[in-house]
Amino acid sequence: MNHKNILITGAAGFIGSNFIDYLIYDEEIKDINLIVIDNLSYCGNLNNLSFAEKFSNYKFIKGDICDSALLEKIIQDNNIDSIIHFAAESHVDRSIMDSTPFLINNVLGTVKLLDVAKKYKISKYLQVSTDEVYGSLGSDDHGFTEKNNITPNSPYSASKAAADHFVMSYYTTHKLNVLITRCSNNYGPKQFPEKLIPLMIQNAINNKELPVYGDGMNVRDWIYVKDHCAAIWKVFNEGEFGEVYNIGGECEKPNIEIVKTILKKLGKSEKLIKYVSDRPGHDRRYAMDISKIKNQLNWTPKIDFEKGIEATIDWYLNNLEWINDIVSGEYLEYYKKQYGEK
Ligand code: NAD
Ligand code: TYD
Repeated sequence: MNHKNILITGAAGFIGSNFIDYLIYDEEIKDINLIVIDNLSYCGNLNNLSFAEKFSNYKFIKGDICDSALLEKIIQDNNIDSIIHFAAESHVDRSIMDSTPFLINNVLGTVKLLDVAKKYKISKYLQVSTDEVYGSLGSDDHGFTEKNNITPNSPYSASKAAADHFVMSYYTTHKLNVLITRCSNNYGPKQFPEKLIPLMIQNAINNKELPVYGDGMNVRDWIYVKDHCAAIWKVFNEGEFGEVYNIGGECEKPNIEIVKTILKKLGKSEKLIKYVSDRPGHDRRYAMDISKIKNQLNWTPKIDFEKGIEATIDWYLNNLEWINDIVSGEYLEYYKKQYGEK
């Protein structure tokens, strides 16, 4: 491995903090410094990274990726040679309420990062992207391949797609060594309770209604977060520059099945389910064809849904304090806005 000082953006969030957890205990990477930048927005939580503080090869810096001067200072001070970019506004429903933070953090933020990567001749830049940039599938369509057209439908996925296009343009135009991963829906510990699985777990624990959009038959391809982390590390180390790698759990499920599974595992009644009006522009189905990463990099998802959902529910049951800390004024306000009138 020739990288020594990796800048990791957005690691106080769900996937980034799981990624640090995935790497930091690994003896093989103890000589690699992990420098995290996160502006601790509503879903960034320093508690998510408390386990890492005792490691000398870990450093946290509170800051915004849109701040070029800060990025330059971090790169110089820490001799950064590579970047893994997680930071983003990540929730579709919030992007429907207000697109601007998505434009700023996801598009402008990525461009700022690319510019410093170019200026300081960063040797490797990995963009963490999403299957949502491909748009929506019909029930009989083949899963997305890396060759599918980019046809995003929500302001969130439009911002991620725009960012991906900028990343590729820096490969072509500026010869920056880029990689893009596009992953399906993640679940696991530390996911902010605005997303389907943690929201339903939290509501079920508290005997609150479980708001299911539309007919509950929208399909997502679920992957346990640690599998996603392993895939990112694989692509980072073995991927070919200028290439996109799809990542998925090969686990398609309609939302209602997920909700019923959670209720059953928590011993709660299906009477808690409440069908509410649909999300505008709601993508019907996502599914990933992951042949490329399987065949070229020899990666496959390891954790099946049954095991993953049990581990996730257990984590939330054992970390009620984590949820209580998060359910702050901002979250309650958002919740009321999103579900209040439904
Ligand atoms: P998250 O919302 O839990 O975390 C995002 C983190 O980014 C937060 O800690 C936040 O504080 C930070 N952040 C946001 N804007 C920032 C800025 N301007 N400067 C510095 N930090 C900033 O999101 P997540 O679910 O962990 O997603 C991480 C990445 O993975 C995102 O790029 C997302 O698009 C992508 N992704 C997510 C999923 C999923 O299912 N959650 C699937 C595929 C891809
Ligand atoms: P979400 O976790 O927001 O991820 P994404 O929209 O990025 O796939 O939602 C997953 C699915 O669950 C999606 O089809 C919307 C649906 N959903 C509900 O039915 N009710 C809810 O309260 C939420 C948050 C999502």
